[in-house]
Amino acid sequence: MHNTLVSAARSESVSRTPVWFMRQAGRSLPEYRELRAGTSMLESCRTPDLVSEITLQPVRRHGVDAAIFFSDIVVPLEAAGVAVEIVPGTGPVIEHPVRTRADLERLEDLTPDAIADIAESIGRVRAELDAKHPDTALIGFAGAPFTVASYLIEGGPSRNHEKTKAMMLGDPELFSAILEKLGRMSATFIDVQLTAGAQAFQLFDSWAGYLSAADYRRFVLPHSAAVFSSLSHHDVPSFHFGVQTGELLPDMATVGSDVVGVDFRVDLADASRRVRPGQALQGNLDPAMLFAPWDVLRPRVEEIVRAGLTHDGGHVFNLGHGVLPDTDPAVPGLVVEEVHRVSSEILGS
Ligand code: CP3
Repeated sequence: MHNTLVSAARSESVSRTPVWFMRQAGRSLPEYRELRAGTSMLESCRTPDLVSEITLQPVRRHGVDAAIFFSDIVVPLEAAGVAVEIVPGTGPVIEHPVRTRADLERLEDLTPDAIADIAESIGRVRAELDAKHPDTALIGFAGAPFTVASYLIEGGPSRNHEKTKAMMLGDPELFSAILEKLGRMSATFIDVQLTAGAQAFQLFDSWAGYLSAADYRRFVLPHSAAVFSSLSHHDVPSFHFGVQTGELLPDMATVGSDVVGVDFRVDLADASRRVRPGQALQGNLDPAMLFAPWDVLRPRVEEIVRAGLTHDGGHVFNLGHGVLPDTDPAVPGLVVEEVHRVSSEILGS
């Protein structure tokens, strides 16, 4: 496979900047809403026909350099027997939050057999990509232990993550045991995807930015690092992303990923100084910018492409967080063309 995403992630030379979008598969696409009508989010995630089709929709429509596997960070929990629902407009809601040692002991490990459908879905996506889009990489993913733990401890989406932090500081042993178990679950979820044919993976630590750098280093970093190290025998590029993590970038850069994701609040040139020398960056266009007129949006895209090419490692263009549901579905494709045009011109290819 010749794939610019894999090369850029490894900080090897490329002929143009690769680009994909977090949440590119989802509600911004009318064909997604049509396909999903009448099927719950989690049921969709466990139905290989739907998963493969939804994963491929943004590849066909936007011409991105990578497909992100359509699933959710709570799929492994559900597969391990946790009663969880994804409530539209709210997010994951857990019926029995995990707050005591007894709750933790009831939490089962995830076995590969419990997610045989995930392997099947990956296989279907790869077969179609190999046949029709051989230069498009398939990215697998999982939630990082802290972000999944926040849902599990809070019982649902949380504005301040106070129950999670109270446990982290008040009962660090229980907190650590929960993150360790969730880390194993995420590693199994990703391992199954890579074994079935995913060509890269991203660990989403969406809520890590709610922590101070000191707390992140002490209570969270070792558990995320364990996920990367347990997957290091797969020879694939790895990505690590969180939101509002500007202050955490120097620490996140040490966790073990090839690529560090940067949210839109940080200038890419500053991010470049906060990661390890030569380490690749991903990001970081503000998703709300996709609602701006093209003559405003276009120079922003060019600026990020130029900053990425100035960085001393590779650069994968992405948004600073996921595509917003009301995004005009024609706009991401224009961004892809512009990233490719500007970067090819600068690189003289
Ligand atoms: O295109 C892609 O990026 C691939 C699919 C993907 C989804 N969720 C599909 C989804 C990925 C990578 C995720 C990861 C995920 N899920 C994260 C980490 C990334 C991030 O956004 O920070 C988190 C925190 C979750 C938990 C979650 N699941 C939330 C907060 C929500 C939104 C709830 C809502 O309705 O606003 C979900 C549901 C979800 N996951 C949707 C999709 C397409 C929306 C479901 C729908 O169509 O109704």
